[in-house]
Amino acid sequence: MTARYEVDLDTRLNAIRDAFDEVCGAALVLDPDLHVVLGTKRAEALLGFPIVTGELAPKLLCGESVKRPVAEALVAGRPVSAYIPRPGPGGELHMLHIRSLPLAVSSSGPRTGWLLLLEDAHDAGGDGPVLFHGMWTQDAAMKLVFRVLVRIADGDDTVLVRGETGAGKELIANALHALSRRSKGPLRVINCAALPPNLLESELFGHIRGAFTGAVRDTPGHMQLADGGTLFLDEVAELPLELQAKLLRVLETRTVIPVGGREPIPIDVRIVSATHRALRKEVEGGRFRADLMYRLRVIPVYLPPLRARRGDIRLLTEKLIESANAQGRRRVDHVAPATWQFLEAHDWPGNIRELRNVLAYAYAIGEGPILAPSDLPAELVDRGFSFDGQTSSVAEVPVLSSEPTLSVEAQRIVHVLERTAGNRERAAKILGLSRVTLWRRMRDLGLLK
Ligand SMILES: Nc1ncnc2c1ncn2[C@@H]1O[C@H](COP(=O)(O)OP(=O)(O)OP(=O)(O)O)[C@@H](O)[C@H]1O
Ligand SMILES: [Mg+2]
Repeated sequence: MTARYEVDLDTRLNAIRDAFDEVCGAALVLDPDLHVVLGTKRAEALLGFPIVTGELAPKLLCGESVKRPVAEALVAGRPVSAYIPRPGPGGELHMLHIRSLPLAVSSSGPRTGWLLLLEDAHDAGGDGPVLFHGMWTQDAAMKLVFRVLVRIADGDDTVLVRGETGAGKELIANALHALSRRSKGPLRVINCAALPPNLLESELFGHIRGAFTGAVRDTPGHMQLADGGTLFLDEVAELPLELQAKLLRVLETRTVIPVGGREPIPIDVRIVSATHRALRKEVEGGRFRADLMYRLRVIPVYLPPLRARRGDIRLLTEKLIESANAQGRRRVDHVAPATWQFLEAHDWPGNIRELRNVLAYAYAIGEGPILAPSDLPAELVDRGFSFDGQTSSVAEVPVLSSEPTLSVEAQRIVHVLERTAGNRERAAKILGLSRVTLWRRMRDLGLLK
């Protein structure tokens, strides 16, 4: 009896799998604890190995590190659309696009699991937003950067990341390290602009005992400490010329000689460097060695600034609001249309870091579920909005402590009215309110004279 039932169950499961295969393509069904309940044949074909029921999906998809986008999102209970790298049948890396859908019997009921839809990244349409090692984008140039990273991750070629401040250069270096076979080794970061030359030299290359006053013992530098891993040389264009010569030697010989030492020490390090400057211009100006530039930028990676990927402004704002809401200080459910206009018109010289700061500011000074234009710092609002040709100073931001007796909302209204020279129609527009509502709020707050 039992045997017949098992056969039936197998047959039935196969039928369900086939149906899933037909409807969903490559897909996995997970239980709420992220164990695989069912995997389709196409998912097995795509992953290149059999899917074992009961296995933990993050481990199956993302390897041992749970700190990968899909795993992170699912553990936190959020749906996600992300690219993850996977070794292909020939050992080469290829990108897998994963979308997750939470499963629940009713919208308010408990989650019963997840449906993961898998696609080869090449077939994945390519228009929607993706999350790649902590970086959100929907921009085609950024997606290309991600694909390049996946392709080069496992080699030892040097990588030079160029991008403006706050554009994500450090995240790129982190991603490269995490994707590489060096990910179990160390990732060391050194900022070449932050230290005076002699200190930088000893930090980078190490020193031996007695090399200088205070050198009481042999001390390895970042080069040695990064052995078996990755060394991220931030602001590499600021490296003084004499240290450039020394770095070139390291790259050519794959050995390092500590300050005051003689014996070269072999090292196995991948060098990733970053700069906001055009290194070629530095070479032309005689500030950077051409031979070192060629050594450092075997693979150049250019990160476009935020203003060159306008679609990302909205996407990143939404994602940053999601995570700020989760921190619980204020809950923003809606961004006023005028706020979007200001955010999208801004040039973002500080890129994503500036956007983060602007939102932190908005959360600190604003209140309520609507992100109003008056929550934004002055430099954003002044750019996108004309106060009859009057320009106010960038430094002029709402100072809440000036009127300690007024509520935050009242202070905000007063501030905006001051900046619009008392024009209530324009003030209402900046505040994202109708004129009548503004009048009513002013009346209730005792601001009508
Ligand atoms: N695509 C992205 N999605 C989400 N967050 C991002 C993205 N790019 C950058 N960030 C965030 O923006 C901030 C700045 O990024 P990062 O430190 O990598 O920039 P950077 O180019 O190294 O800047 P700097 O030149 O000033 O050192 C960080 O908080 C980072 O987490
Ligand atoms: Mg940086």
